Amino acid sequence: MSPTVLDIADLSSGYGEAIVLRNVSLSIRPGEIFALLGKNGMGKSTLLKTVLGFLPAKRGRIKLFGEDVTALPTHLIARKAIAYTPQEQTLFQDLTVEDNLRLGLRDDRGFAEGLARVSEYFPIVGKRLSQKAGTLSGGEQKMLIVSRALLGSPRLMMIDEISEGLQPSMIQRLTEILLAERKRTGTAIFVVEQNVPFAFSMADRYAVLKIGEIADDGVAGDELAAARVQDQLRV
Ligand SMILES: Nc1ncnc2c1ncn2[C@@H]1O[C@H](COP(=O)(O)OP(=O)(O)OP(=O)(O)O)[C@@H](O)[C@H]1O
Ligand SMILES: [Mg+2]
Repeated sequence: MSPTVLDIADLSSGYGEAIVLRNVSLSIRPGEIFALLGKNGMGKSTLLKTVLGFLPAKRGRIKLFGEDVTALPTHLIARKAIAYTPQEQTLFQDLTVEDNLRLGLRDDRGFAEGLARVSEYFPIVGKRLSQKAGTLSGGEQKMLIVSRALLGSPRLMMIDEISEGLQPSMIQRLTEILLAERKRTGTAIFVVEQNVPFAFSMADRYAVLKIGEIADDGVAGDELAAARVQDQLRV
């Protein structure tokens, strides 16, 4: 049996003395789309940052593809075919679309093939290669961020609140693209979201984070679960 893609056990982490995450356990299987939901400030981004080693774990264990990475530095974790799209703006605004894309690859090999692939998903990216990223619209910049993530053919994508500020048609398109990519490559996808319909349109399983703890989790398949999660994000 292939190992879990991501296995988090009893994880606590935070900033300095402040504990944000408490005893969080979750696992993502190969090819699975897993949604982590929660209101503002509940610790969702903190969890992703801890997985990537930007923040040290105060307790617990993190395994990626079966390997314990809890104490590994970020640059070594990043080599493990993981793509991360942070919540905050991460494009180099003064660099071109092409240069921003190339930064998603460790070397130039595979760029042409990868570009052809992501251009099928996002034609605009292929058409605007020499345009400065900072001159793209907000939605176009998000397409570029996702394109850059896809370029590296990840085995795990971690996507932090990509739907924030996107129009519904673009969110729908992103759903289709992420599902298509999962089908094509078998990549696992960890979506962090407050948009329950978007998350549930893709997810196999979900968990809800409430003040740093998992308050609910389960299979995302049924409408009752979606309604219950929506309620938890409202209160
Ligand atoms: N650099 C930091 N230093 C200190 N505290 C921080 C830092 N970043 C986040 N926090 C705190 O950690 C808690 C969790 O923040 P986090 O960004 O993980 O929430 P989130 O669930 O991603 O929220 P949102 O949906 O608004 O992005 C919050 O109380 C926040 O104020
Ligand atoms: Mg966040």
